[in-house]
Amino acid sequence: IRKIAVFTSGGDAPGMNAAVRAVVRTAIFNDLQVAGIYRGFEGLIEGDIEPLSARSVNHILQRGGTILKSARSKDFKTKAGRAKAFEKLKSNGIDALVGIGGDGTFAGAHVFNKEFDFPFIGIPGTIDNDLVGTDFTIGFDTALNTVIDAVDKIRDTAASHNRLFFVEVMGRDAGFIAAHAGVASGALAVLIPERNMSIADLVERLSEARRHNKTSSIVIVAEGGKSGNATEIATKVNELAPYYETKVTILGHIQRGGSPSCFDRNLASRLGVASVEKLIQGERDCMVGMINQKVVSTPFAEAISDKLTIDPELLRIADILSI
Ligand code: F6P
Repeated sequence: IRKIAVFTSGGDAPGMNAAVRAVVRTAIFNDLQVAGIYRGFEGLIEGDIEPLSARSVNHILQRGGTILKSARSKDFKTKAGRAKAFEKLKSNGIDALVGIGGDGTFAGAHVFNKEFDFPFIGIPGTIDNDLVGTDFTIGFDTALNTVIDAVDKIRDTAASHNRLFFVEVMGRDAGFIAAHAGVASGALAVLIPERNMSIADLVERLSEARRHNKTSSIVIVAEGGKSGNATEIATKVNELAPYYETKVTILGHIQRGGSPSCFDRNLASRLGVASVEKLIQGERDCMVGMINQKVVSTPFAEAISDKLTIDPELLRIADILSI
């Protein structure tokens, strides 16, 4: 390998810049050339590629977002798009790729690798934490801290007015943010895609809380929850339990921004270094992750598989502590 290119793809996540910095500097440390591809697979297909130096990544460790920009590419889902991408890699003399992203990115990478057998390693960068092969993804911890900060503030006003708040957090297909934030913010209930909680069950829980003299409550709803989004659920609960004054807060994209936490900076730095070292050692078609504080590689196909589950213990704890 003589020249590596790095890109970020999918929803941005705090800590992606720290990972870019680590990839660039590790490549240069190992006498490799390094380039940045802008806007993920989209920019690769268009040839939006620039050389990077150790100084190009000065002072980005602490910055949210991604200096390389990000995109979700429709073209890369087509064979013609991937063929164009391969041509751009060849014409720019790029021998190996490091992609920082989530399941969509790695699904694309896996197909590309099957077609072109190209050295390609992934780094898990998504606030959703929904990948097999790493205990945590880059950005998850920061996003959680943003959620907790917001819910703590909502709690103040909820308690002052004896109100019931439905707080919607991100996670189209995964409830990790909701489940972890639920425990950490003392939510009364957590509604996630992975677990069925009917509106009737929720109302029963709310009534129980009233019997226990709770005057205000927070319910955390993952945007992809089985019973609907926060607004839909609040409407249904209002019909069945009109004695509550309900409010809805959708946290939205504030969860994706902000300076990465110390945890995310360290995780990104370790995985950034590992990705380049593993490419040099000949690994490919896999994602680097951290399990039990050790760097491990997991084939892309497994990283994006549906083997992922939310720790049932976390949900059990949430239920015990919400009485
Ligand atoms: O995958 C990260 C994520 O933030 C999800 O939690 C969310 O459902 C989605 O991206 C939102 O995507 P967009 O920014 O394209 O609206």
